[in-house]
Amino acid sequence: MTAPIRIILVGLGARAQFWMRVINASPDCTIVGLVDPVQAARDRALAQCPGAIAAADPQDVIGRIAADAVLICTPPGGREMLMELCCVSRLAILAEKPLADSVEQAERYVLMAEAAGVPLMVGLNFRYLAVTQHTLKLFETEVGSPAYGRFTYERWRDGTLARLNKYPLTMQQPMLWEQSIHHLDLMRYVYRAEPVEIFAKTFNPPWSMYAHEANVSALITFDNGVIVNYQGTWAANWQTPHFEWRTDCAEGIVSQADQFGDLRYAKRADEALTRIDLPPYEQWIDDAIALLAAFVAGLRGERPLECTGRDHLKSLRMVQACILSSQTGQAVNPSHLETGAEQKAGRVRPSDNQNRGTQ
Ligand SMILES: NC(=O)c1ccc[n+]([C@@H]2O[C@H](COP(=O)([O-])OP(=O)(O)OC[C@H]3O[C@@H](n4cnc5c(N)ncnc54)[C@H](O)[C@@H]3O)[C@@H](O)[C@H]2O)c1
Repeated sequence: MTAPIRIILVGLGARAQFWMRVINASPDCTIVGLVDPVQAARDRALAQCPGAIAAADPQDVIGRIAADAVLICTPPGGREMLMELCCVSRLAILAEKPLADSVEQAERYVLMAEAAGVPLMVGLNFRYLAVTQHTLKLFETEVGSPAYGRFTYERWRDGTLARLNKYPLTMQQPMLWEQSIHHLDLMRYVYRAEPVEIFAKTFNPPWSMYAHEANVSALITFDNGVIVNYQGTWAANWQTPHFEWRTDCAEGIVSQADQFGDLRYAKRADEALTRIDLPPYEQWIDDAIALLAAFVAGLRGERPLECTGRDHLKSLRMVQACILSSQTGQAVNPSHLETGAEQKAGRVRPSDNQNRGTQ
């Protein structure tokens, strides 16, 4: 029997509630430490993980108690000390997306973790949804290679709701950093390709409750020729959300009508779409269970670590390219934004792209 992985959970806000449920139900992991400066957050978490040690300051727990990994659920800005503590203490890291609030900072974390030999995975849970995995299968078995796509995510996100985090209300580019990062990452993952050109416009509609841009429109070209028309917003002016990700392929189309499911396909001559029977799922839970299983398998050497920090930099470069393109009015090639260290690492290391069939 393999001993459970002992996890210190840092940041006990909205996202951590899901993680506590998932980890507490997992025979492979156990929560041994809880960290948050807010007493009420610690009390709430301790009620769910009574055996854990809780502290306001990460320095009182990380490196001080026996543990194997740290799950970072704090806002993306201000993780410097946490990342350093994990690396110095040689604890594996599972960090919620985005890894940082700038690509430069994220790259520093990736280099630091690599130098310390610390595994670093980023929580890109949408890759692990059954709908995402079945989309990959449809390309292989029914409709052929993707040629172009339309990705639409329209949501009136009331950022004042008690169950939601509050920092996106005031941060720069909240849609891109907090939400579109999932979508851009999914495109790279599903199309098995890297972006070579992004033309984007970000803006904020007059009724937006966000201080900065809640809308992103982008035209994205990938190195395998796939072109995607992307529209994402947290400030749609209807409370009923709308999601559609349609990909036109060599022999038909794939259409996903819900961000957690509802997958259909049609061949060119079909009169109607064929619905794919997806396994039952609970959103935010089953995707986190699968993500955690991948983290555990990576730490135990059973399969290569997925969603690595280094791979994440390529999705973050897409965010950066959208911002730059919007500022300059020019198309941007995200790979031109890579630093020398990133380009060198990209040449000598297999990217996560090559492991994509394994999930
Ligand atoms: N993968 C997903 O689907 C998903 C969904 C929601 C949020 N997230 C991500 O999870 C992270 C956290 O988001 P959230 O919604 O839980 O935010 P939140 O604001 O609800 O919670 C953050 C918590 O971190 C605590 N905190 C801040 N700095 C800290 C520090 N240095 N040490 C310890 N605790 C600290 C805060 O007190 C707060 O309790 C973000 O990166 C966000 O993007 C991911």
